[in-house]
Amino acid sequence: MSNIGSYEEQIKDFDWSISEKELGYKDGDVINIGWYCSDRICEMGKADKTAFIWEGFGGQKKQYTFNDIRLAGNTIGSYLRGLGIKDGDRVCLFMDRIPELYLGFLGVLKIGAIAQPLFSAFGDESLHVRLENAETRAIITQRKHVKKVRKIRDSLPHLEFIIIVDHDGKKPLQEKEIAFSLKDADPVEEFDIFPTKAESPSVLHYTSGTTGQPKGVKHVHYSLIGQYLTSKWVLDLQDDDIYWCTADPGWVTGTSYGIIAPWSLGVTQCVLDTGFSADAWYGFIAKHRVTVWYSAPTAIRSLMKAGEEAVLKHDLSSLRHLASVGEPLNAEAVIWSEKVFGLAFHDTYWQTETGAIMLTNFPGMNIKPGSMGKPFPGITGVILDPETHEPIQEPNKPGLIAFKPGWPSMMRTYWNNEETFQSKFVNGWYLSGDRATIDQDGYFWFVGRDDDVINTGGHLVSPFEVESALLEHEAVAESAVVAKPDDVNMEVVKAFVTLKPGFNQSAELELKIMNFIRKKLSPLAMPQEIEYMDNLPKTRSGKIMRRLLHAKEWGEDIGDTSTLEDDD
Ligand code: PRX
Repeated sequence: MSNIGSYEEQIKDFDWSISEKELGYKDGDVINIGWYCSDRICEMGKADKTAFIWEGFGGQKKQYTFNDIRLAGNTIGSYLRGLGIKDGDRVCLFMDRIPELYLGFLGVLKIGAIAQPLFSAFGDESLHVRLENAETRAIITQRKHVKKVRKIRDSLPHLEFIIIVDHDGKKPLQEKEIAFSLKDADPVEEFDIFPTKAESPSVLHYTSGTTGQPKGVKHVHYSLIGQYLTSKWVLDLQDDDIYWCTADPGWVTGTSYGIIAPWSLGVTQCVLDTGFSADAWYGFIAKHRVTVWYSAPTAIRSLMKAGEEAVLKHDLSSLRHLASVGEPLNAEAVIWSEKVFGLAFHDTYWQTETGAIMLTNFPGMNIKPGSMGKPFPGITGVILDPETHEPIQEPNKPGLIAFKPGWPSMMRTYWNNEETFQSKFVNGWYLSGDRATIDQDGYFWFVGRDDDVINTGGHLVSPFEVESALLEHEAVAESAVVAKPDDVNMEVVKAFVTLKPGFNQSAELELKIMNFIRKKLSPLAMPQEIEYMDNLPKTRSGKIMRRLLHAKEWGEDIGDTSTLEDDD
């Protein structure tokens, strides 16, 4: 029997107080996610239960009970407090998926500071814009990543502490740097957790838009109410589960469902800190007897490529529930997973901004392969007419996905950018920026994004950010960046550039430019292809027409070109 029981029954009189009651929370109470994910579970008698099974890329292993993670959260929190870090301060977590990332997240929240997780593969420029915008006071990182921080620390006046968790003493520490080793620190048994309230900020995740710099999505401790119940009903987490969320906490799936979900429910989770490999992934599931698996379409398509033989080599009989998020989950992937695992991947749809799952295929629900399912109870989701912004009643007619504001884990604002936050609301609806249809049975079907943001392997890349970085390369005069179709990642980044006089259009230069972007931004933002042009298509007013280049890549009709410069 799944946790949700019947969907139809649950939506009838749904109220978020169901979640509040289960968590023992009442309006006005103190609510601290760090406490809920560790101390509370210990108080419930599960102190000795395994909370965390971790494996590194070199085969290293670590295991922690709920009492261990409670103590680690206290110890890191107490260390940060000792430095003078206080509630509301931004503390960036810039690490691979090592235990300190997960435990540091709890520590930061326990002192009421704001956790700002950033993907460890980010280059110095990606890091810089996000630390500058958040006015981050401390960054917790590893030796292998500190070089990138050193490059930018002098232009970040708010950054006071660069905390290195694996300093081996071989090389001297530099300006602002301090070493902290969880292993060598005395565990802090008694700790005054900061009494955060519902609206106290908790997590700041950066997400990319079409224009401008990345936006800091501000979440609050009350988001737990949404994350807890969606984990329980959608991921169906139960007491004896072994859960694996493959997402990196640099992105929202990796925090909402890769830390908060399992631990607030007192469920054991495991983490594998490696890149993708079908054999390693299946081996990990078999070894730890994983029961619930939350992953992403690009990974699933990569598994499909590895073929059924790879599946048959491992005993995956422990699996009982599979879910996916981040990009369109094609019908073939659902059908394939049913065939090879005997279980369908359940698609879920949400965003950094929504903080928790909004649309989903529930356990026990009839899955229509290729559909994102239905709104979570308590969520009003509609399709709006793009012109009038009124809900479309007719089934199967495409429009904008919108939600009625007011769910617990909704972002509270964009950091230092209230204006853009407000622009997301029209006629009392929150505009997701995605397009979809709803069929006669109430199932949502993804159509596409309503902007130029590139979703590559589930990660959003801003064409603006890549275009700006390209212009910093000595050879590039102009740039335009669009999505290009890809079998596995669905979309990859493609750049069109014109060169400055004196530079030749060569394959060697293409590689140099690619590498330049990889280092500055990240491997995800690196164009997979650079096409040289003599001129970029522009409107008469001089604006580069990305739309045209995009249509060319996707073999679509280029539409109205009457404003094109060369049309005269
Ligand atoms: O375009 C939608 C796509 O990913 C966007 C949100 O990305 P992000 O804020 O990085 O959060 C990703 C993880 C929650 C959405 O606006 N997206 C997410 N889930 C799906 C999806 N597109 C199609 N189907 C999905 N299930």
